[in-house]
Amino acid sequence: MMSYKITLARTAHTFEALAHETILQAALRQKIPIPWGCGGGLCGVCLSHMVSGKMVYKSEPLALFEEDKMAGKGLVCVGYARSDLVIDVPELG
Ligand code: FES
Repeated sequence: MMSYKITLARTAHTFEALAHETILQAALRQKIPIPWGCGGGLCGVCLSHMVSGKMVYKSEPLALFEEDKMAGKGLVCVGYARSDLVIDVPELG
């Protein structure tokens, strides 16, 4: 089964994401703390800077605005890895 390595920038965390699970699902499954709210691409809490790699969506998330995309940001709760990724998630607050 295809899996990718996810690295959280600025932290020591790395984890594995399977092709059919979202980055958020993969993180939660492995007890990796990342901030999230709705889990459905609606609230924007999980908006992260995509430092490198390819992440795709099944459908365009409602909370992802054009300026976010232009700034290289993505919503990890509804994003699927298609390569190894480095992502910079928001601070847990
Ligand atoms: S957790 Fe709400 S948009 Fe990702």
